[in-house]
Amino acid sequence: MEFSTKALAADKASGPAVVVGVHEKGALSVTATAVDKACGGALRAVIERGDFPGKLGSTRVVYPPVGGRIERVVLVGLGPAGSISRRQYRDALIAAVRALLDTGAKRATLLLADIVVDGADLRWKARHAALCASETAYRFDEMKSSQPPTPPLAQIEFMVGSSTEVAAARRGLREGHAIGEGSNLARTLGNLPGNVCTPAYLAAQARKLGRQWKFPVTVLERAQMEKLGMHSLLSVSRGSSLPPKFIVMNYRGTAAKTAPIVLVGKGITFDTGGISLKPAGEMDEMKFDMCGAASVFGALRAAAQMALPINLIGVVPTCENMPGGNATRPGDIVTTLSGQTVEILNTDAEGRLILCDALTYTERFKPSVVIDIATLTGACVIALGHVASGLFSNDEALAGELLAAGDAAGDRAWRLPLWDDYMEQLKSNFADVANIGGRPAGSITAAMFLSRFTRSMRWAHLDIAGVAWKSGAQKGATGRPVPLLTQFLLEQADAKTR
Ligand code: BES
Ligand code: MN
Ligand code: ZN
Repeated sequence: MEFSTKALAADKASGPAVVVGVHEKGALSVTATAVDKACGGALRAVIERGDFPGKLGSTRVVYPPVGGRIERVVLVGLGPAGSISRRQYRDALIAAVRALLDTGAKRATLLLADIVVDGADLRWKARHAALCASETAYRFDEMKSSQPPTPPLAQIEFMVGSSTEVAAARRGLREGHAIGEGSNLARTLGNLPGNVCTPAYLAAQARKLGRQWKFPVTVLERAQMEKLGMHSLLSVSRGSSLPPKFIVMNYRGTAAKTAPIVLVGKGITFDTGGISLKPAGEMDEMKFDMCGAASVFGALRAAAQMALPINLIGVVPTCENMPGGNATRPGDIVTTLSGQTVEILNTDAEGRLILCDALTYTERFKPSVVIDIATLTGACVIALGHVASGLFSNDEALAGELLAAGDAAGDRAWRLPLWDDYMEQLKSNFADVANIGGRPAGSITAAMFLSRFTRSMRWAHLDIAGVAWKSGAQKGATGRPVPLLTQFLLEQADAKTR
């Protein structure tokens, strides 16, 4: 999908498809009136006959008389008159793009820049126009033997009212496009099945990303991990016949020797639970257990495409959690890279076992912040559902910045505590710490476990178990939290150039 912007009076709009917003029961907006005139009154007729009440997110395609400058108009409902929320603007955009994809239009002109959105400027509106369009047009047909026909929509123009607005709109479109491609990359990696998206596949994808966007990528093999002492990570991999990989991607957007931001993503390419085997129901969804890793790929891609002036390192520990004759047993004790010993009471609590070694490894980069992203606990789905990611942090300012980034991006997180009281639950009779803390506060005890490996760093942990994918008829990866992460990175870059 290509995005462009230009300043154009609405009465000059033309082309295969024009999108205008319509409020409930309201008079037509200035923009809609201008388009209506160009269509010989076709819009007014539809509305006056009561065929388009303007309900938020509803759409209707109107065909003006043949021979005019405009081939189709997509009306999109904006709800009651007045300003709308960012969420409502996004819902309207998504609905409009869905309607456009159902038509044969190759190009669409959005006349949605002058809608009043609470807390949003033009750059934000343009960014989300491009982001919503990219995400809505996403398809995953790679594994079908024949490709269903793709909708022809390939170009989106975001019109603004005056030439002074073009720069802000262009910037927003560029950002939204980059975030959309990053999010869609994360979705594809997530959607690919465990027999395709293996640790070696992720390593190959990282190398490819590095070639495309010109940043170095290194991959540590099992022997190197053994030598370093990543025995916790390796204990998860023991039951699998696929070798583990430890991926490091190093995006340098500035020559300055500023401390990097490090993103660490859980890359379990399939989680059977290991010897603590999961029940059969919905186990297929554990191919999504590398969505944290996928979000790191997506965020790096977006940052590189936006050429953000920051230093950003992506760390992805990746392996498969399988049962087998060589697999880790419940009760086994391993020594982590940090030197702490762990009693593995449940082999299904494997995410924390690979992340702890990755987080310790991260210390060598002396990061300004480290954020890990993981489909870590089923308990997080119980606590926050499919709405918010669980956020944990040992730094108040960082927590605030991430919450704000999630809000602005429409990809929200909610903070949960990291109080010492919870550490009690991780006591082991035999090792320094146990890898599970029982049923109460399962997401918090998982985060408490990680906190033991990040004491020297400003750190945040995002538990994305509830938001990384959808189940049921809409089954598929969502790309979350790429929008939150890239919003955070954008703010970091903006703060630097301010
Ligand atoms: N990948 C799962 C978490 C998960 C489960 C995410 C279901 C989304 C849906 C993780 O590795 C896991 O199995 N966690 C266990 C931890 C428990 C054994 C302490 C869980 O949540 O049941
Ligand atoms: Mn597990
Ligand atoms: Zn898992």
